[in-house]
Amino acid sequence: MWTLVASAAWADNLPPVDVYKSPYCGCCGNWVEHMRAAGFKVRVHDTKNVDQNKAKFGIPYGYGSCHTAEVGGYVIKGHVPADQVKRLLASRSKARGLIVPGMPGTSPGMEGTGNPKDHYDVLLLGQDGKMTSYARY
Ligand code: CU
Ligand code: CU
Repeated sequence: MWTLVASAAWADNLPPVDVYKSPYCGCCGNWVEHMRAAGFKVRVHDTKNVDQNKAKFGIPYGYGSCHTAEVGGYVIKGHVPADQVKRLLASRSKARGLIVPGMPGTSPGMEGTGNPKDHYDVLLLGQDGKMTSYARY
């Protein structure tokens, strides 16, 4: 009971996440569940044109993934771990957002779909469009 109250209050401090995804894609739904489990309130927007969104948010060509999200003024592209989203929000960095390109088999929402020894980088997308490694898994 007490934990429920505490976690609800804590979740109030996290901005809501808007997710744009294809209605036919299961791994996006798994990532939504990952974000909810981490305390985020997630609003899901099914769209058949995820690519159009990619351009809108300035995701560089070749760094796509299946879903795009917006939270606290940042863009989150692909299977980015919730902990890194929280880290970015807390940092108030001037960056545009975070990207996990492709669909690494060990990223949240992709578990069990690929090589369990996969490694991947979470990339920070700067204001200037340059990308640097933000975290490595
Ligand atoms: Cu995916
Ligand atoms: Cu997906």
